[in-house]
Amino acid sequence: MDSIKHTDSFSLKVVLPIIAIVASLIAAISIMGFWKGKQNKQSISSPSFGRKFPKVSHSDLVRATEGFSTSNLIGRGRYGSVYQGKLFEEKNMVAVKVFNLETRGAGKSFIVECNALKNVRHRNIVTILTACSSSDSSGNDFKALLYEFMPQGDLHNLLYSTRDGDGSSNLNNVSLSLRLNIVVNVSDALAYLHHNHQRTIVHNDIKPSNILLNDDMTAHVGDFGVAAFKSDSTTSSFSDSLLADSSAIKGTIGYIAPECAGGGRVSTSLDVYSFGIVLLEMFIRRMPTDDMFKDGMSIAKYAELNLPDNMLHIVDPQLLQELHICYETPMDLEKNEVKCLLSVLNIGLNCTRLVPSERMSMEVAAKLHGIRDKYLTTQKKEDKYLT
Ligand SMILES: *[C@@H]1O[C@H](CO)[C@@H](O)[C@H](O)[C@H]1NC(C)=O
Ligand SMILES: *[C@@H]1O[C@H](CO)[C@@H](O)[C@H](O)[C@H]1NC(C)=O
Ligand SMILES: *[C@@H]1O[C@H](CO)[C@@H](O)[C@H](O)[C@H]1NC(C)=O
Repeated sequence: MDSIKHTDSFSLKVVLPIIAIVASLIAAISIMGFWKGKQNKQSISSPSFGRKFPKVSHSDLVRATEGFSTSNLIGRGRYGSVYQGKLFEEKNMVAVKVFNLETRGAGKSFIVECNALKNVRHRNIVTILTACSSSDSSGNDFKALLYEFMPQGDLHNLLYSTRDGDGSSNLNNVSLSLRLNIVVNVSDALAYLHHNHQRTIVHNDIKPSNILLNDDMTAHVGDFGVAAFKSDSTTSSFSDSLLADSSAIKGTIGYIAPECAGGGRVSTSLDVYSFGIVLLEMFIRRMPTDDMFKDGMSIAKYAELNLPDNMLHIVDPQLLQELHICYETPMDLEKNEVKCLLSVLNIGLNCTRLVPSERMSMEVAAKLHGIRDKYLTTQKKEDKYLT
């Protein structure tokens, strides 16, 4: 009895006030949390990425990338670095883009990319898994995006990395059919962004290092950090994007459409131009920033000057080798492979016209499908004939 009484008075004097204090603290924290949550929602308009994916914290990502170690660094973009990481101990490989929030525009780029990818679903566009917007261990803002991992790297590496890393004469073998598949995949992605979506999306930074390859070498367009979108067909202008900020670097040298130099308006023809450059680059296998393209010469002009008659002098010699074409003998325009190359390069020329209104739209996707299918079916017939 005595001890119970003692407990009673103890609980009255000590436990109850503690409970009261704890309860009010919890109330205060949850109100603050709610308020903060509301604020976050406003600033990133609550990204919800279709598929269910567990929430990840800064410390999950530190673990997944071994402390953002350089051995896991797989790319560097304008606004941050991309790491590969293993999440949740499993084989769950992901790519983690960590925004460098000290760079001007990086915070905005995070929001732009969230908004652009939130409703986008396409087999040739990188899938975003989730966003992480929190703070690191020292309390600094931390923003990251998680994407599905692309094991075969990007198109730039496919084209220019060397086998065994021993000298430039040992470039990767990239077959004509693989090149055709990649341009077809990228054109499908752009046609979807420009024409088949409720909102027209302009990517604004199409280039080989933003074209990623999965295990079966299917191409995926990634990095929507400077994308612009038009929410519905009733408005004619594009949303406030990074492009509206005249101090932001727009696109990438070599791939950027000429009209951008004067601060031109956002339009789908910007992507068409960059796509055309990538296409020419893939079949010529020279970067648009190559030393030979200066003083008024560009990869597009080079192609224009040499097509059709001198085509064999400008295409990647590795393709001629694969196709058993000799560029010293006159070009056989009846040859299936020659026709295919010529049609593809002509599309590259049309996409890179200097005047935007003269460029084709991404309806080129259908044309490229046709060229590819024709090449492959004729190819099969010839193989049958030979065996
Ligand atoms: C990529 O393009 C090739 C060529 O058209 C096609 O066979 C393949 O299905 C495409 N892959 C995807 C996932 O779209
Ligand atoms: C690359 O392609 C060339 C020509 O088709 C061929 O001779 C060579 O053996 C190939 N190399 C590899 C490593 O596949
Ligand atoms: C593409 O360009 C070629 C020559 O440059 C031209 O003959 C053709 O009409 C163009 N096609 C389209 C659809 O603009």
